[in-house]
Amino acid sequence: FQGAPPSLSAKYEGSFAYLTIRDRLPTILTKVIDTIHRNKNKFFEEYGEEGVQAEKRAISFLSKLRNELQTDKRVLPLTDGQEDAETWNSYLQYQQSHQGELSPVSWFSSPWLYVECYMYRRIQEALWLNPPVNEFDVFWEGKSQSFLDSTAAITALCTHMELVRRGLTHSSDSHTLDQLFKLLQVSLWGNKCDLSISAGQENSQKGSPLDSLDSLRAFVLVNHSKQVWSVLAAARGDGQGQRSPGRVDIVLDNAGFELVTDLVLADFLIAAGLATEIRFHGKSFPWFVSDVTARDFEWTILQTSAANHKWMSACGVQWKRYLKEGVWSYHDHAFWTLPHDFGDMASSAPDLYASLRSARLLLFKGDLNYRKLVGDRDWPHTTPFHLALRGFHPAPLCSLRTLKANVQVGLEAGQGEELSTATSTWMTSGSYGVIQFCSSDRE
Ligand code: F6P
Ligand code: MG
Repeated sequence: FQGAPPSLSAKYEGSFAYLTIRDRLPTILTKVIDTIHRNKNKFFEEYGEEGVQAEKRAISFLSKLRNELQTDKRVLPLTDGQEDAETWNSYLQYQQSHQGELSPVSWFSSPWLYVECYMYRRIQEALWLNPPVNEFDVFWEGKSQSFLDSTAAITALCTHMELVRRGLTHSSDSHTLDQLFKLLQVSLWGNKCDLSISAGQENSQKGSPLDSLDSLRAFVLVNHSKQVWSVLAAARGDGQGQRSPGRVDIVLDNAGFELVTDLVLADFLIAAGLATEIRFHGKSFPWFVSDVTARDFEWTILQTSAANHKWMSACGVQWKRYLKEGVWSYHDHAFWTLPHDFGDMASSAPDLYASLRSARLLLFKGDLNYRKLVGDRDWPHTTPFHLALRGFHPAPLCSLRTLKANVQVGLEAGQGEELSTATSTWMTSGSYGVIQFCSSDRE
C-alpha cells in the first residue's frame, strides 16, 4: 500500500515483536509439545501403537520447529498438501521477492504478523502430517479450562442478560442505549482474557465484568459507542411497525470468557431489535492459542445451556434456539487463518468480502483482528482509522480491542505521547482498550 509505514518486525531489537518471537513463541511451542506428550496414553488408548508413533513424530517436528525459530532459520514452505498450503507458499515467495535475495525470509527478519501466523500454521502441519493425531486440538485444555475458571463471572453476566431481556418490552430508547454501551464494554474487556498474550498461562475472568466498568472507563482510549448505536438504531425502523432487516457480523477472537461476552452482546442485539440476524466468524483450526473454532463455539453454548444455574442455562437455551432458527449462524473461512491483513481480502477472498458487504455492521474482536485491520504497521497514532484500513471498507465496522501490540491509530494529537509518559507499556499490557468505529473510506 502506497505510503504505509513499515511493518512491525522482530528485526527491531527490543521491540514487542522481538520479545514475542524471542520469548513468548518458544514458550507456547514448549507448552504444545508438553500437551501432546501428556496425552500419550490417550493416543495409545484410542489408536494403539500407531497413535504413540504419530505422537512421537509430531513432537519431533515441533522441536525442530522451535529450533528453527530460536536460531532464526529460513521460513520453510509447507509440505502437508492442504488446500491453503499453496497460498502460504506463494505468500512466502512474495515475501522473499519483497525482502530481496540477500535477506532470506527468516523468523526475526520478516514482518511479525506473517511469522506469528506462520507458527500457528506450522503447529497444525505437525498434526496434519501425522494421522491419527491430526484431529487433536493442542489448545483445547487451556480454552475449556479458562471457560470453567470464569464460571462465576459468566453466571453474573448471564443473570444480567436475563434481567435485561425481561425489561426490554417496556424499555425506553435511552435504557436500550445504556445497556448497549455496557455490553460493548463487557465484550471489549472480555478480550483481556486471551491465552496468547499470557503465553498459555491461566487468564480467566474472576469478578463480575459489570462491576468493574466504571473503574475501567478511563482506560478506554477511543469510545465510538454512539456511532455504533446510530448504525444499529436504523435497524429498528421508524416505529410504524416497519423494521428493516439488519445483520451484524461478529468476527470472533478468543474462546473462554471472551466468547461468552460476545454471545451475550449478540443476544442483546437480537432481543432489543437492534439486529435481526447475527453471523459469527471463527477459525477453521486452532489459532493464536485461544481463538474460537467451531468445536469451541458449540461446546460453549452446550456448557452454558447445561449449567446448574437457572439464568446461565436460560441464556444457553436461548442461544441454541437462535441457532436452530437460523437467527444466529457460525461460519469459518480459510482467509481468517492466512497471514494476509484485511486490506488483501477483496482480492484474496472476494467471496468473503462480498458476504461482509451485506452486513449492517461488522464487529471485529481483539488484538490480532486490529493488527490485520491496520496492516500491523508502525502508524503515527494520529493516523485516521479509515486511512489505516487501506481500502478495507466492506461495511461500517467497529473494533473492540484491548491493546497488546505496538500499533494504535485514531488518537487525538498528544494522546499517545501523554500515555507513553505515563507508562511505557500502554500499547502492550492489555490494560487499555478501544471501541473504534469507521463508517466508510471517507470518514
Ligand atoms: O503479542 C500478544 C499477542 O500474542 C499478539 O501477537 C496477538 O496480537 C495477541 O496476543 C492475540 O490477542 P488477541 O487474542 O486479542 O487477538
Ligand atoms: Mg486471540
